[in-house]
Amino acid sequence: MAHRQVKVPTAPTRSNSEALILMLFLPRAFALAALFGVMPVAAAHDEHEPKAVPDAEAHRPSALPDRIILTFPGDPSRSLAVTWRTDDAVSKGLAQIAPSDAGPRFAERAATLTAKTFDLDTDLGHSHRHSVVFGDLAPSTQYAYRVGDGVNWSEWFHVQTASDKPEPFAFIYFGDAQNDIKSLWSRVIRGAYSDAPKARFIVHAGDLVNRANRDAAWGEWFAAGGWVNGMVPSVPAPGNHEYERPAGAAADSPPLLSNHWRPQFTLPTNGPAGLEESAYYFDYQGARIVVLNSNEKQEDQVAWLERILADNPNKWTIATFHHPIYSSAKKRDNPKLRALWQPVFDKHRVDLVLQGHDHTYARSGLRAYENVPEGVGSREDGGTVYVVSVSGPKMYELQRDDWMKRAAEDTQLYQIISVNGDRLRYEALTAVGDLYDAFDLRKRPSQPNELIDRTPKDLPERLRPRPAEKVGAGD
Ligand SMILES: [Fe+2]
Repeated sequence: MAHRQVKVPTAPTRSNSEALILMLFLPRAFALAALFGVMPVAAAHDEHEPKAVPDAEAHRPSALPDRIILTFPGDPSRSLAVTWRTDDAVSKGLAQIAPSDAGPRFAERAATLTAKTFDLDTDLGHSHRHSVVFGDLAPSTQYAYRVGDGVNWSEWFHVQTASDKPEPFAFIYFGDAQNDIKSLWSRVIRGAYSDAPKARFIVHAGDLVNRANRDAAWGEWFAAGGWVNGMVPSVPAPGNHEYERPAGAAADSPPLLSNHWRPQFTLPTNGPAGLEESAYYFDYQGARIVVLNSNEKQEDQVAWLERILADNPNKWTIATFHHPIYSSAKKRDNPKLRALWQPVFDKHRVDLVLQGHDHTYARSGLRAYENVPEGVGSREDGGTVYVVSVSGPKMYELQRDDWMKRAAEDTQLYQIISVNGDRLRYEALTAVGDLYDAFDLRKRPSQPNELIDRTPKDLPERLRPRPAEKVGAGD
């Protein structure tokens, strides 16, 4: 990065008395000038040659816990999991938990649990990942927990368990973070948390990072979320960028799920065989949240999806995965996935599907799959709302289609979704906090959901200049 050269303002001609005053106060004037940044950088630090800090140094683990992240290992009203990183000198990880209290002595009542510790060899070196499942928790209770090794502890984090009954709640959903995570995604996750600090979890619809096995990429991802990840549980779905061919593997071997995924996220193991912790589900206060893995074994997930949706006592069902049923970018259609999964969503009345992958924004009305002789069509009299969104800075061109009720290009977004009785409220906000898209879904007895569009009328769609303009220019 080039340094900005700051010019010293040209001094006006001075009288002798002014010169004397200047001599007397010159040292102080220099100090003030330096303080307010009007000194040339080279004059203040002649010897300083800025150098990039190597990744191995920037992301080096230590005995102090970092990359602390909460997840749901199962029933969110009774259990929580925390996972963290240390250097490999820490052979025994500990976590403490207690019901929190306004006074600081809650810690005296804390239970201490020993972590499962995993070795993780990354491209930047060796580290330990520690994982603790807090079980037998009370519903609707605020707990305080910390992690460490008995000497070096994290701060105490607060987290709220779910109610074991249907109750209103909100959560955050992100499309792909993926690139320039520290530089440009951090503002999005922090903006989302600022807008919804009581959100109960954060859904990541895949491509959390760009390179699945790069420790520096994960280091940026954890740093962007910071202590938010320790207070609001994460619900990650893997994207194609969480898959990578391991170093040294044959060129024709399939890419595998990131070697970081299971060591750093303690997730439910209730998915289809072979996809444990990358496809899973949990129930949250009247909503079933289903995470699918659109990267592999798509057929194998159909029977599992059928089973968990057939036996679903929740009023609301929300699914998330990476590759969209309806693509919003050019040449990225997923007809196989649509044919496999959408009829199951229709049959079991999945309300909302949250996706990523296409680095644009697009939101449908109520959509159902219909296999008609001349191809794939759709009807609008009921069905599921499909969303593609993007939270990071990588942007594609939108392929406009009739199903899109609201779309965007070149826009980083976060979504806040609230569930309250018969109503689900969806809001998409831009990286600067403007409401960009909104709708409500309302449950009706023996009828499809009603969709109430609340798209802000005063904010035009954010789109690139269309090709028509280029055609007009002779293209
Ligand atoms: Fe992506």
